[in-house]
Amino acid sequence: MSSEANTGGCLGKPMKRKEDPRFIQGKGRYVDDITLPGMLHMAIVRSPYPHAEITSIDVSEAMKVPGVKAVITGKDLDAAGLGWLPTFHGLDKQMVLAIGKVLFQYQEVAAVFAETRAAAADGAEAVQVEYAPLPVVADPFTARKDEVLLRPDREQKTNHIYHWEVGDKDGTARALESSPKRISQRIWFQRCHPAPLETCGCVAQFDTMGRLQFYVTSQAPHVYRTALAIVTGIPEDKIHVVSPDIGGGFGNKVPVYPGYVCAIVGALKLGRPVKWIETRTENLTSTGFARDYHMDVEIGAGADGRITAMHVATTADHGAFDAAADPTKYPAGMFGIVTGSYDVPAAHAEVDAYFTNKAPGGIAYRCSFRVTEASYAIERAMDILADELGIDAAELRRRNFVRKDQYPYQSRLGFTYDSGDYDRTLQLALDRIGYTQLLKEQAEKRVRGELMGIGFSTFTEVVGAGPSKHFDILGIKMFDSAEIRIHPTGAGIVRAGTKSQGQGHETTWAQIVAEELGLDPQNIMVEEGDTDTAPYGLGTYASRSTPVAGGAIALAARRVREKARKVAAHLLEVGESDVEWKDYKFQVKGVPAKTVTMKEVAFAAYTNMAQNEPGLEASYYYDPPNMTFPSGAYVAVVDIDRETGEVKVRKFLAVDDCGTIINPLVVEGQIHGGLTEGFAIAFMQEIQYDGEGNNLNTNFTDYLLPTSLETPQWETAKTVTPSPHHPIGAKGVGESPNVGSPAAFVNAVVDALSPLGVRHLDMPITRDKVWRAIRAAEIGTVVA
Ligand code: CDP
Repeated sequence: MSSEANTGGCLGKPMKRKEDPRFIQGKGRYVDDITLPGMLHMAIVRSPYPHAEITSIDVSEAMKVPGVKAVITGKDLDAAGLGWLPTFHGLDKQMVLAIGKVLFQYQEVAAVFAETRAAAADGAEAVQVEYAPLPVVADPFTARKDEVLLRPDREQKTNHIYHWEVGDKDGTARALESSPKRISQRIWFQRCHPAPLETCGCVAQFDTMGRLQFYVTSQAPHVYRTALAIVTGIPEDKIHVVSPDIGGGFGNKVPVYPGYVCAIVGALKLGRPVKWIETRTENLTSTGFARDYHMDVEIGAGADGRITAMHVATTADHGAFDAAADPTKYPAGMFGIVTGSYDVPAAHAEVDAYFTNKAPGGIAYRCSFRVTEASYAIERAMDILADELGIDAAELRRRNFVRKDQYPYQSRLGFTYDSGDYDRTLQLALDRIGYTQLLKEQAEKRVRGELMGIGFSTFTEVVGAGPSKHFDILGIKMFDSAEIRIHPTGAGIVRAGTKSQGQGHETTWAQIVAEELGLDPQNIMVEEGDTDTAPYGLGTYASRSTPVAGGAIALAARRVREKARKVAAHLLEVGESDVEWKDYKFQVKGVPAKTVTMKEVAFAAYTNMAQNEPGLEASYYYDPPNMTFPSGAYVAVVDIDRETGEVKVRKFLAVDDCGTIINPLVVEGQIHGGLTEGFAIAFMQEIQYDGEGNNLNTNFTDYLLPTSLETPQWETAKTVTPSPHHPIGAKGVGESPNVGSPAAFVNAVVDALSPLGVRHLDMPITRDKVWRAIRAAEIGTVVA
């Protein structure tokens, strides 16, 4: 029928991001851009003490500040049954505003509502709180002694939150014991923070119908709606959550924060909309931190380098509340991926988590729930083992890789790896980086006393939470969803339960629909983040969007196609079974000249549908059968100035395998961004507390973000091993560079320093730390 140009075939094409013209022209619409008539502003009074009893709160002076309308405290909220908030993990609860005592510096103590942001801030300053300081527990090792009980509100009278373990404890111990070689190392992944450029915030309004309109920086708007209904008692149909454009989330915008509840209470109490936008300091000091895992890693091996066993015992610092937003069954997230890319015959991993007087969190910062910590531990330990055995670090990895013929591979710690080709990925990395030449150069430099290092990380992740048999948050299974509606002219809209925070979903979701239906991706609109219109989904974090929502979108599109086939049969005047989908068109089987395009079918679905149901739309709720297992081989090359300790990353190559690639340009952007974050974590970032529980990194002069001046040049390459169970073979990619890169950087630095006898350094690897390590080696003692 038609000879119209083929509009399909857009999967894998580097289409420019549809959302970028809006963003680069400053036309994004963020929460802080929302201004409603009569809107009040909220500011939060925060504790200067890490642990103290609240002896009194006097709000009288604050109420005299011009413009201040109300102040609420923990007592007010407690009286209304809103004193505590369940954490997403479901194992704990968190005070909304402090009741009785504060448990970390910058904890929320009171909320002030005023006509302007400045008046709210002045009002917050004027609230007088008397504190009686209590002994501070500033680390998990002190916490475990239980000398000071931090959470008397809990039934369990201990600072210990949970013990989690997986694997064969006794078998691993026996295997370690009989291993010819053993290494052990405490590896700390320091506390860091996602620090999105847009801080968290919200606008709460009860409309004329008494319905809560809640605009919020949320990575999971539907879960927020349900959580708010549970916490506040407002029926879920009376809650409308909208996540407009989001300026970066990285896991930081998954938890429901106390400020959100306060803003809603203020809006209800005062009958006016309330806006709350965090300051940078509030974001860094009170919202979800990441990592803070002290990992004692032990590996056994034969003299040939074959690993015989692995044991990891982790001590985790969760801060004042267990606010890690992990799926219910996994208090330590996906830490079981700690055997990485290696076929480890005996393994056991355990995590003990403790409360301390620090901000709560443990969120999945660009990470599938503790995969980054696990990946760092194994990749760092592999280098220590290589060093101990005198085997080349790349060769040791190769000897232990899960082989291509072992898939689906059952790891000893409970995961079934879907696919991978680690040898090929590493080989590509070695060839591209010119490893043989680099080794030669390094040997020559070592003779001259110069410090050059080569570091590898050949990681495997587990992303796409997840299959409903294992994964839920607050009991809600972790499926995701898509709804597709094709309009008469062949344009359309796809709505998904995810929420992009810069990942480019407006482009890649359109590409999936266009690929499946032979339509123009430019005319497929993507809508996310509005709970009134989008189907229920669990949101965007932990690289779950492509593995889960990406699958839902492809399958919803295939449902649309099945419906379209009936209309096509009518147009082609044949039976439905005589119609096939070929080259992005419907065709009469065996008659290539008789075709009809999806665009023509779409028009007919509204104008000439014969006996078929009018319209062209479908939805799909996708419960993935398994996680996906992206992998990569990263290589860092560094030079270190022996006099100053300055580390220069001369080269960095990231070879990633994320299965089928939807959009290489978007993937490239994800890799560059994540590598830059990994670089910052390796060399610059730590949320430090002193021994008294004071936060030392409260703004961007103390918590450093790399600029283009510090950031190395990134080189990238890809291998493609499709996921066998995902509808289009795609695996997640967003977090891979953040997961994989820290170990490569640290391994390169330690490799450079290894002639001096340096075996391990904890991140962040600052110039000062390197300088001290060099001086210590030179004078044979530690430099204070
Ligand atoms: O969940 P999140 O969006 O953060 O991470 P993701 O699923 O890894 O996707 C990040 C971006 O990369 C999305 O726009 C994906 O569609 C895109 N992507 C891709 O083009 N091809 C892949 N194989 C994986 C992701």
